[in-house]
Amino acid sequence: MREQAARAVEMSAARGAAGEAASLDIDVVDIDHYFRSQSDRPVHAVDDVSLQIPQGQFVALVGPSGCGKTTLLNMIAGLVEPSSGRIMVGGTPIKGSRPEFGYVFARDTLLPWRTVRQNVEFVLAMSGVDRRERAGIANDWLKRVGLQDFGDAYRYQLSQGMRQRVAIARTLATRPRLILMDEPFAALDAQTRLILQNEFIRLWEETGATVVFVTHDLTEAILMSDRVVLMTRRPGRIKIDKLIDLPRPRNLEADRFTPEFRLSYDQLSDALREELDRL
Ligand SMILES: Nc1ncnc2c1ncn2[C@@H]1O[C@H](COP(=O)(O)OP(=O)(O)OP(=O)(O)O)[C@@H](O)[C@H]1O
Ligand SMILES: [Mg+2]
Repeated sequence: MREQAARAVEMSAARGAAGEAASLDIDVVDIDHYFRSQSDRPVHAVDDVSLQIPQGQFVALVGPSGCGKTTLLNMIAGLVEPSSGRIMVGGTPIKGSRPEFGYVFARDTLLPWRTVRQNVEFVLAMSGVDRRERAGIANDWLKRVGLQDFGDAYRYQLSQGMRQRVAIARTLATRPRLILMDEPFAALDAQTRLILQNEFIRLWEETGATVVFVTHDLTEAILMSDRVVLMTRRPGRIKIDKLIDLPRPRNLEADRFTPEFRLSYDQLSDALREELDRL
């Protein structure tokens, strides 16, 4: 376990070396969370979770539906306050969302009355980018995700895959130090999903940002991440915390035929099946 933690720090230090900004290590300490409801007993969503994530690490959170993945992500984002325990980001207790955080959700949240370019510029404005720089940055990111010809389009004129591309461009354009993703590729067909996974990984590998990535898809979790954290059924506890020893840059098509992928997949899918059998 200690050896794994040391390697995690080493892996992220190698990538973080390129980043100039202060590191935002995440420290989740003894978190419990209950949702209160008026009629029923409180729902115990997250149980005694502790997790340290060094700056620059790509972590996937997996587990059965309802086990508390989104709740944990929202707590790291500062959107949900844990019932007990504490969460520190960059050594400071987390309170509310911060401009150096970026979010990508399963369904894009583009503003339908703004064009694609205006959507990107809006997020840049929210994170304090100077008005004169916004158009140039937005155009650059639209080009990077292959949407240079759709800057003037509206949400209704885009496919689901294109919308998710805008969501990714919009998030990365603000150069977040921490990216929180909740099943960002779940609503896509298999081919578009693979294209966007590849694009996201390629763009992320240049950033040094930390990623906390919730997914139901074990293959996606292993192929994209440095580390997979598997939670038990609700109340969610950490059942397995596993480093993925696949070199970067990743090749999402070829890597799935490696022994490392196979071993990780077998271990994690057995553990996940145990949890699903208990539901
Ligand atoms: N706002 C809320 N109020 C009350 N209960 C909630 C709320 N949000 C989540 N819960 C409950 O907390 C538990 C964990 O929910 P959460 O959304 O974190 O699960 P999840 O692991 O993300 O599931 P899924 O994979 O289906 O998205 C569930 O039992 C859910 O019913
Ligand atoms: Mg969820």
